[in-house]
Amino acid sequence: MPEPAPPPAATGGPAPAPPPQPQDVLTPLTGAAVFLVLTIDPGGERTVRDLLPDLAGLRRSVGFRAPDGGLACVAGIGSDAWDRLFAGPRPAGLHPFRELVGPRHRAPATPGDLLFHIRAARMDLCFELAGLLTGRLAGAATVVDSAEGFRYFDNRDLLGFVDGTENPEGRAAAAAVTVGAEDPAFAGCSYVIVQKYLHDLDAWNALTVEQQELAVGRTKLTDVELPDAVKPPDSHVALTGVTGPDGEELQIMRFNMPFGSFAGGGEFGTYFIGYAATPAVTEEMLRNMFLGRRPGRHDRLLDFSTAVTGSLFHVPTADFLDDPPPAPPVPPETGAAEVAEAAPAPTESPATATASDGSLAIGSLKRTPAR
Ligand code: HEM
Repeated sequence: MPEPAPPPAATGGPAPAPPPQPQDVLTPLTGAAVFLVLTIDPGGERTVRDLLPDLAGLRRSVGFRAPDGGLACVAGIGSDAWDRLFAGPRPAGLHPFRELVGPRHRAPATPGDLLFHIRAARMDLCFELAGLLTGRLAGAATVVDSAEGFRYFDNRDLLGFVDGTENPEGRAAAAAVTVGAEDPAFAGCSYVIVQKYLHDLDAWNALTVEQQELAVGRTKLTDVELPDAVKPPDSHVALTGVTGPDGEELQIMRFNMPFGSFAGGGEFGTYFIGYAATPAVTEEMLRNMFLGRRPGRHDRLLDFSTAVTGSLFHVPTADFLDDPPPAPPVPPETGAAEVAEAAPAPTESPATATASDGSLAIGSLKRTPAR
């Protein structure tokens, strides 16, 4: 029997490569979130690099068992960590978070090499994945900040206002968070800034609802923006509205979550997290908030909310995490590359430890003893 004729050659050369797959930045606001910020210990670079291609699988390990839970995890890499982890080009917009010191309020810059933004409908899924990730990084990275965020009624913050309404949607959301042709080697990536804010709820709740609405720039119950004639220039909404050279609105995606604890007199706050195609947009909002558009006109919310952390991260694509570029020959800050490469990789992760105690390892937080 004659060989079947080969299919006609495609015209125009090979098919273009598919666009890089972004991480799950644009999931809807969830009922629960865990924010983990870590620093990489000297010599911990190899363990961190080994974890990156496993992130998707670990998310599936937890999320597949609860398909309605919508578990998502976004990983971010800080500026100093980038040079310790990867050879090759750097993302154009990646730099350390820039501290802002205004006449009244300060946005501190705090350490952060890695960010894990874990979101799901249920806290158990977030908690479980956070346990797997920190277990894999034990001895290689230190958690320097964490928060467990929860949904508060109809997506309100602990100040009582609906938070997230004016986030862009659909194509506008993708455009707001996605690096494009301006940095072709990193197209499809994103940037994220996180800040932990603590609220003085006694002082806030001593205001009338009308005063609170003037501070935010929206009505409290119905979440409607105040008319321009009423909205003060130092309201949060007025100061975070920024425009580009042609007057177009510049947007970011926020997934803020309330968090809190009643211990020690109570600590109540908002974990701010803002994704953008360039950190410059979020930074302009921050300058408006802390320094004011005009001197002395800082964001009124800051009189009741203190920023205690601040870090900036690059958010690579999922494809980058699956197959990261080679490690640098010698990490510049630690000089510990050879040591790191020679060190034995952890032999047993908590998730795969034998459950000789009858726990079945359903909770994977059981730690292997320190070596
Ligand atoms: C204490 C921390 C913060 C709280 C409690 C808070 C709360 C709110 C609330 C209640 C709104 C109105 C509803 C909405 O559109 O989401 C809002 C809007 C907004 N916030 Fe914040 N926010 C905080 C920090 C920040 C920071 C640090 C930034 C940026 C650097 C930011 C950027 C924005 C933007 C862009 C809007 C939408 C403005 C508009 O176009 O109407 N927020 N925020």
